[in-house]
Amino acid sequence: MLVLPKVEALLDSALNLTRWKRSGAVVSAVQRESAGGVRGWRPATEEALYGPSGFYRRPEGPAGHFRTSVHASPLFAGAVARLLCLVDEALAHPAELAFVDMGAGRGELVTGVLEALPAEVASRARGYAVERAARPAGLDHRIEWLPAPPPDVTGLLFANEWLDNVPLDVAEADAEGTARLVLVREDGTEVLGEPVAGAEAEWLEKWWPLTATPDGPLPPPEAPDGPPPPEGVRLSAAGLQGPAQGLHGPYDPHAAEGLRAEIGLPRDAAWAAAVASLGRGLAVAVDYAHFAGARPPFGTLTGFKDGRETAPVPDGSCDITAHVALDACALPGARLLSQREALGALGVSGERPSLALASTDPTAYVRALAGAGEAAELTARGGLGDFGWLLQPVGIPDPLPDGERPST
Ligand SMILES: C[S@@+](CC[C@H](N)C(=O)[O-])C[C@H]1O[C@@H](n2cnc3c(N)ncnc32)[C@H](O)[C@@H]1O
Repeated sequence: MLVLPKVEALLDSALNLTRWKRSGAVVSAVQRESAGGVRGWRPATEEALYGPSGFYRRPEGPAGHFRTSVHASPLFAGAVARLLCLVDEALAHPAELAFVDMGAGRGELVTGVLEALPAEVASRARGYAVERAARPAGLDHRIEWLPAPPPDVTGLLFANEWLDNVPLDVAEADAEGTARLVLVREDGTEVLGEPVAGAEAEWLEKWWPLTATPDGPLPPPEAPDGPPPPEGVRLSAAGLQGPAQGLHGPYDPHAAEGLRAEIGLPRDAAWAAAVASLGRGLAVAVDYAHFAGARPPFGTLTGFKDGRETAPVPDGSCDITAHVALDACALPGARLLSQREALGALGVSGERPSLALASTDPTAYVRALAGAGEAAELTARGGLGDFGWLLQPVGIPDPLPDGERPST
């Protein structure tokens, strides 16, 4: 029986980077069977999140462990409702207007959007929640709960923090600079497997090549200036804007050792399938993202549990997530922008109300002040405002105006 080298699982406490240090063992496919259940991160995550006792099957739902924009403020659902009205206009007010909440959690966004619509639009709107978990008790009976997007609908498909939970495999460069599949045990310890091949290798080469500087791998990203993201928001230190990963000077394969990439192919396919379900309208994916030229050198795979970042352990005890290469998901005609820009164009701004209002209408002033605080959280730098929005029009012109770029 193969004995795997001892694997250390150390959290890098200095930067709170969730990376695993390992002895560099390489396991072949044949050895895998006898290697005590190691497998790629994609199947391991699939079972840990969506298996019979998976993390996302639990009764408390995602909101029991972290906050998304949906939970941060009803202003978010209000902005998405305004976007649905813009889509309605571009579609010339169809008799039935779909709102598809993709990866709906417990249906919080679709509920909020339907409530925020003007009466005339609401009378034609039909809400769908697409979710792998079971329908929650007490959800508005008019919302349809589905395991896959409804086919050929007309309207807006909105996927908030869905793609980061679509499982994917991880690659790591070995001492020769070869990208190998990272294999993981149920306790989260890792070994290197076979070289990445086929379509996955092509994806890596195109979107996330594991190359390094002549002096070695680029250093880990530093925490950005400004306040940390609010408690419970799933932004890992590893994924915050860090130095770009890329080839600077002559290529040295040995210097690449230890660089990691998350192979986004399954997310590209999942997004393409969701977009294809729309007859006409707009598909939007919102997620923490990175783009070519500035990929995080050691990847972003991490865990979340009880509102805190934790080591990714594929045993069903925690969320397992990785930031999204949104540029790779984008199909022809797509637009990429930040949440700050998108919400600015939809009228969400963190501007404080004027002091004059405090003397004429103190209640309205306090309400406006609270709204400004929530808007500031949704658009904050180093937090939710840095999320990427991928807009994919289907058979209509892009309905979101450019809007002003808020300066905050
Ligand atoms: C991070 S939660 C986001 C929930 C909600 N959209 C929000 O913003 O609060 C991701 C959700 O996507 C769901 N999910 C993942 N893959 C899915 C799929 N293929 N089809 C439907 N739902 C999926 C998970 O079960 C989970 O509830």
